[in-house]
Amino acid sequence: MVFKKALSALIVSLPVILAAPAEPALNPRCNALVPVAKDLLDNLFEGECGDAAHGALRLIFHDAIGISPTAGGGGADGSIIIFNATELTFPANDGIDDVLDTLGPFFLKHSNVLSPGDFVQFAGALSLAACPGAPRVKFVMGRPQPVAASPPDLVPEPFDSVDSILQRFSEVGFSPDEVIALLSSHSVAGADTVDPTIPGTPFDSTHNVFDTNIFIDVLLKGTLFPGTADNQGEVMSSINGTLRLQSDSELARDSRTACTWQAFATNQQLMAARFGPALFKLSLLGQNANELTDCSALIPQPPAFRGRPMFPPGQFLKDIEQSCAGTPFPNLPTQPGPPLDVPAIPQADGDDDS
Ligand code: HEM
Repeated sequence: MVFKKALSALIVSLPVILAAPAEPALNPRCNALVPVAKDLLDNLFEGECGDAAHGALRLIFHDAIGISPTAGGGGADGSIIIFNATELTFPANDGIDDVLDTLGPFFLKHSNVLSPGDFVQFAGALSLAACPGAPRVKFVMGRPQPVAASPPDLVPEPFDSVDSILQRFSEVGFSPDEVIALLSSHSVAGADTVDPTIPGTPFDSTHNVFDTNIFIDVLLKGTLFPGTADNQGEVMSSINGTLRLQSDSELARDSRTACTWQAFATNQQLMAARFGPALFKLSLLGQNANELTDCSALIPQPPAFRGRPMFPPGQFLKDIEQSCAGTPFPNLPTQPGPPLDVPAIPQADGDDDS
């Protein structure tokens, strides 16, 4: 009978459908990076989604965004390492000196097998390995040596307007939705220099988990400054011990980006699925992708995140500043317990703030 046949065909093919996709073999050209990956994972990140990992992730951005159709620049070329004497004078690169202090010795150790641009992107991709909930991001190798420092004023500042931030990203091919996807990185992040009296202040209540809390926390009504008031680029946050960037706050509330921001707040899979490709796209800025070798097989799968989105203790739907026109923010359970007082992020070795 035709029907029976179709059913048995389905049963025979089921194990094939359900089998996990085979891991692509490592391109032999990537072999030299196997011990580098081990060294960075064991001795730089030490199995933690902590300060060193956060810094490496931020460095991807501050290197790659250094390109513009009018001002020039080499994008994801490692110029932030080689021409640091110039690029670290840019105010938007405040705090990157500490990141280079921590990562620099590892770059020097492995500069015989990795160009500066590859090192920045490799360290950034590996940095997420211990961040539960992060996607496994792709990594390609073969970026040539940087030839010059990035021009100034290409890295967005937290006090820039939404217009200017979206314009800067659009110049290098990123849509408003991709900007919000990239900002998922602020889930595993904090600030050392925005309020210099409180270095290591996280942006959300769970700086070592790549969860959606950043998208929830930033939409809650701001009520406090974790340190001093009146810092440029900072607005009031809603949880003791967390710092809210003005740029995150405004992007969460702008009509062009608010609905994507809200969609990520309660959808871990969507957030992670959009973040991975956007970060990889950033890693290709200024590069010829056809000349690069795919070494993604070296990047470990980060641990799964098993939690679910919740409001922080003592906060409820009424505390959300509804910003996506037409789609109400969904109601979520509230975490039990007293109001949070989130501790500072312990600083990495080599970091002056430690
Ligand atoms: C609108 C664009 C952005 C602005 C205005 C912005 C601004 C900032 C600021 C002011 C800090 C704190 C720096 C400090 O005081 O130490 C920071 C931290 C951070 N940012 Fe962004 N950012 C933006 C986009 C991105 C993107 C696209 C990425 C990722 C690829 C990223 C990743 C990070 C990370 C991981 C940290 C934490 C660094 C650490 O804890 O050491 N940011 N960002």
